[in-house]
Formats: sequence, C-alpha cells, structure tokens
Amino acid sequence: MRSLAVKVNKKRAEILRREIKEFIREDLTILKDDFYIYFPVQHSIMDYKNSLTFVKMDFKEQEKRSDIPRIPYDIVGDIAILPLGLEDAERVAEVLLKRKNIRVVLRKASSVEGIFRTREYEYIAGEKRTETIHKENGCLYKLDIEKAYFNPRLSTERRRVIEKINNNDFVIDMFAGVGPFSIPAAKKNCTVVAVDCNRYAIKYLIENKKLNNIGSNLNIIVGDSGSVLSKYNVADHIIMNLPFNTYNFLEKATNLIKKDGIVYFYTFGKENNKEDLFKEHIKKIEEIAGDIFIHNKRIVRSYSPHCYHLCIEFSISNEKTKNRDESKVNNKI
Ligand SMILES: C[S@@+](CC[C@H](N)C(=O)[O-])C[C@H]1O[C@@H](n2cnc3c(N)ncnc32)[C@H](O)[C@@H]1O
Repeated sequence: MRSLAVKVNKKRAEILRREIKEFIREDLTILKDDFYIYFPVQHSIMDYKNSLTFVKMDFKEQEKRSDIPRIPYDIVGDIAILPLGLEDAERVAEVLLKRKNIRVVLRKASSVEGIFRTREYEYIAGEKRTETIHKENGCLYKLDIEKAYFNPRLSTERRRVIEKINNNDFVIDMFAGVGPFSIPAAKKNCTVVAVDCNRYAIKYLIENKKLNNIGSNLNIIVGDSGSVLSKYNVADHIIMNLPFNTYNFLEKATNLIKKDGIVYFYTFGKENNKEDLFKEHIKKIEEIAGDIFIHNKRIVRSYSPHCYHLCIEFSISNEKTKNRDESKVNNKI
C-alpha cells in the first residue's frame, strides 16, 4: 500500500522513532535498506515537523495478529487503560493480561474533568487498584491515575522541553502534577519550584522526589499558582501545562520570567486552517504579555477531531523584563 514515509539515516532512526511514534502507521511494515529506515507515517506529521525528509513509497500491510488487540489503549506502569466506551473489554483484557508488564486492566469511564484534570476509571480485570509506578525518560513516577493527572502520551513532549533546559537553570513548573517535568529538570541539577493545587498530586510528587534521589534543589508547593509564586521573578523556564485554562495564569508568568527566559505555554487549538491554529493564540498572548519573541510553536498531539494540544514557546520583551534583578537568583527559594 502506498503511503507517506519519513526517510532517516539508520544511525538516527531510533531517536527519531521515539520522537514521532504517535505518527507512525501501525498498519504498515517499516522498511529499510543498507543506509536508511523508512517509517510509514500519517500526513498530520507535516504540521508537527516539516523539516524531515518525506518520500512516498509502497509498504507491506502488517499481518493481523489475532492475539493483539488493535485498539488505542495506554499503559501507565503496569496498568492498561482501555478507551471510553470500548465494547468487549473483558476479552481484550484477557489478552492483555497475558503480557508480563500488565497486571491491571481498566477502562476510561469519563473524560478528563475539573481543575485537577482527573478522570474516572472502571475496573475490568486483573488486580484491583489504580496506583502504580511508571517509568518515563529514565525517571520513576508513583501515582494513582484516578487521583492525579498523568498522560503517558506526553513523554516525547516532556523530553523535548527537558532537552532545552540547561544544567543549573531555574525552572518554575506552575502545574506540576506528579512531576514529569519537574523531576527530570531537578535531575539536571536545576533549581525547580513545582506547584500543584491537588494534594494527591503533591503527595506523589514528594514520593517521586525520593524515588528519584532528588535533593533540596526541588521545592514543592501545594497551592494555587496564581497566588503562591509572588516571591520569584527570575525563572529561566516556566512550564504552563494547563491547556484548558493557561490564559488565567499568563500575567503571573510574565512577572516570574527573567530576561530571555522561556515560557512554555500550552493550549488547545481548533483547526480551521493550520496557520490560524497559532495566529489567534499569539495575538491573545501578546494582549496579555506585550511583545513576545517566539522560539518555537508546535502541535503536541491531536486532542480530539480537529482540535490540537499546542505549545507556544516564547520570551517576553526586554523592555518588560530588563529590570529583573539577577542577584535574586541566589536567594530565590
Ligand atoms: C494537565 S495537568 C499537568 C500535570 C503535569 N504537568 C503533567 O504533565 O503531567 C494540570 C495540573 O495542574 C493542576 N492545577 C490546576 N489548577 C491549578 C492552579 N490554579 N494552581 C496549581 N495547580 C493547578 C492540576 O491539579 C493538574 O495536576
């Protein structure tokens, strides 16, 4: 079957595979020759990264393996999570539980809701629990998926952000959850201030700090980011992963960032045409933050039909930040 493909040198193939795995077609077989690997991909990858080498070619269809359910389930730790409303969940669970890494099978029972961004789950099979330990990008996260937000599909996005953070930078994670941005940043020896208003998320974040042998450079605060961060104003990076409500906290972030520091602003965008996805948001950000310099803007993932989770990375104008006192870096905590 003919498909769009990404052509990549064999030496870089594994790194790229991890980065674009959400776009790789599972119904077709990956091809290789002596020098290159060819990943069959969805067209939407071109909005995500159009600097790759694209070709069109014929691929063999994957043989259907009757033992592996072809449904988009997630795995968090040893818990398999089936989609909302999936029929025949018991049969699927029976197959999944044969795998060594899966001990619990749940089905989503609601969408993500409320300020804590949690959802309900329905027990299907295996051990009866919602707590687990998940490994991502070399870090461990203990969490209860019903009590605190965690989405394994954001691992590539998190790695991308962490790669932009230098050792010893000062990072504010305004909506930290169980710590998937804060923990790896702290592992890079950064000074990190991690805030969340969900007490369960904070309980696990404190456990995860220990689990990953992080020291006093990770400061954990339970509370509302809109009010608990007043004493800081020299962050090199501010991570704002609360896409349904980020605008309410943007003014706060503009007061926390230092000159040339980067704000990672997450939001949702509806597709009218691809340029418009970002245009309206950039205009809205400038209304609140003043002139901004955009370092990067990207589609993180598709959220629902015609709606995308977006990231806009920007610095705010030197005019606004020029008097930020660098000396406070030393007594910022
Ligand atoms: C979408 S989750 C992101 C969590 C984490 N950054 C991640 O990537 O898994 C947003 C988090 O923000 C928290 N939150 C919502 N409103 C908040 C507020 N006003 N102040 C601090 N945390 C807040 C929620 O409890 C939730 O854990």
